[in-house]
Amino acid sequence: MSTIINNIEIIKAKATKINDVDFNNLKFGHVFSDHMLECNFKDGKWAAPKVVPYQAITLDPSSKIFHYGQSVFEGMKAYKDANEDVWLFRPLDNFNRLNISSKRLAIPELPENYFMDGLKTLLEVDKEWVPKNEGSSLYIRPFVFASGNGFHASPADEYKFIICTAPSGAYFSGEVRVLIEETYSRSANGGVGYAKAGGNYAGQFYPTQLAIEKGYQQVIWTDDNTHEYIEEAGAMNIFVRINDTLITGPTSDRILDGITRKSIIELAQAEGIAVEIRKLSVLEVVEAAKNGTLKEMFGAGTAAVISPISGFGYKDTDYDLPKLDDTYANYLKKRITDIQTNKAEDPFGWRY
Ligand code: COI
Repeated sequence: MSTIINNIEIIKAKATKINDVDFNNLKFGHVFSDHMLECNFKDGKWAAPKVVPYQAITLDPSSKIFHYGQSVFEGMKAYKDANEDVWLFRPLDNFNRLNISSKRLAIPELPENYFMDGLKTLLEVDKEWVPKNEGSSLYIRPFVFASGNGFHASPADEYKFIICTAPSGAYFSGEVRVLIEETYSRSANGGVGYAKAGGNYAGQFYPTQLAIEKGYQQVIWTDDNTHEYIEEAGAMNIFVRINDTLITGPTSDRILDGITRKSIIELAQAEGIAVEIRKLSVLEVVEAAKNGTLKEMFGAGTAAVISPISGFGYKDTDYDLPKLDDTYANYLKKRITDIQTNKAEDPFGWRY
């Protein structure tokens, strides 16, 4: 039996799994809520999305996703406030970026109402899965991939758009030390670095494993041409504070236009913090670490929000960041999460 909400057909799961979940001990992206949104592209058009029970999907072994990696995704979060109301953060920005990524991977773009009405309906159905505990949220993973088959190296003729959700705690636990990358690259000019393509992340795993073997948790990506300029931190954008100025690189072909990144820039500027969006060289950061003007480094992304970096390695030397009481990272993280969770006014109109 199905019902309709917001013009979206809903087929409910026979039983809920929610009672098996310990909401006080949530890992990141480890358990999945009862339902997912599913939408198929066939015969040149997207069919109306449906909310269905979270379930395995069957794919032909020759589906192009397996051979040519034609897939893109988004990361979002839903938060529950004290009145049990559920909030999203800048969801239209995620929708727009998903289509920007799709275009680059020759994937057909989605209509806005399929994404937004589908997402809202899924969250209405699985509202109970949005955690209330401080520091937890419902992580939302919209993704599109080539389900059409064939070994010809060309775009598929069928795609699936799915949104599934996972009640989640913090992305990182413990301190984050990073290795500044001198060999491998995350992205290149004219490439797909600005898109949230699945392969961008797969390409990071091996260099990150090498960094982990050396005792670091993440890699700082540098430009592919010279490895002289800082670009991203693991799967996040990066901010560096030298004296009292916050610096981050400009977005480009190679750098993801992070929603947390741009929100932090706007928030910091509104709070009177000096922000510079410019190329930042590794040597400038090393020099600042040596002369004591390097105050903070942090990664910024949806999953980890703001993730302070405690030290970095470069050319066989380790540098420690100072342990400050009042950090921009802590201050901006509180400001942004208070807005996201409806604990503070939202002068920017980000909350949805
Ligand atoms: C996010 O921050 O939401 C991302 O998409 C990064 C992912 C690797 C967890």
